[in-house]
Amino acid sequence: MFITLEGTEGSGKSTQAKLLKEYLESQGKEVALTREPGWGKLGSIIREAILNDKELKLDPIAELFLFCADRAQHVKDFIKPKLEDENIVICDRYFDSTIVYQGYGRGLDIDLVTRIAETSTLGVKPDITFFFSLQVEVGLKRLKNRDEITKMDNEPMEFHKNILEGYKKLVAEDNKRFNVIDADRTIEEIKKDILGYF
Ligand code: TYD
Repeated sequence: MFITLEGTEGSGKSTQAKLLKEYLESQGKEVALTREPGWGKLGSIIREAILNDKELKLDPIAELFLFCADRAQHVKDFIKPKLEDENIVICDRYFDSTIVYQGYGRGLDIDLVTRIAETSTLGVKPDITFFFSLQVEVGLKRLKNRDEITKMDNEPMEFHKNILEGYKKLVAEDNKRFNVIDADRTIEEIKKDILGYF
């Protein structure tokens, strides 16, 4: 089973990813927890270039291809083999992030971005996606306590609002795969909600 978590900045996905992993392992399952971008050797180079290098001002098309290059290699070398080994794979962000950030956020053509993002999955689609729904302002406030503030986090409010709108559209288009989680609650409440799906 392949589970992905999506949402705007500071929506609490990563905390819940860990809690879900612990729960599934307590049920005797083998679980691989991963995230995008940044898996493996290529991923760390790409993550650094896209999110941390302050001098590099990437063109949106270059940014799109870097996120997708990261994903294709991640799928080939990690996600696919783990799924073939009957692991449950939990991935913190996946191709929906590309559609909303590079499409709705950067303003690239949505159809083009969707095709490239889908291609970068090598055909490996999530079985279930949790969308952490939260007001942009609330999420950005939570970020202040973090160690790694990325270039994305520093984008203007307008950018983050477009991301949220983008997610809402994706959810409306595929409400079979997406499950909306109200992320404006305590960690325990959200956890209980998510575990209810398993
Ligand atoms: P990260 O520090 O991993 O944070 P988060 O907790 O928000 O997941 O940052 C990843 C950033 O990269 C985040 O701002 C979303 C962005 N992103 C894209 O723009 N496109 C993508 O395809 C992916 C996977 C992430």
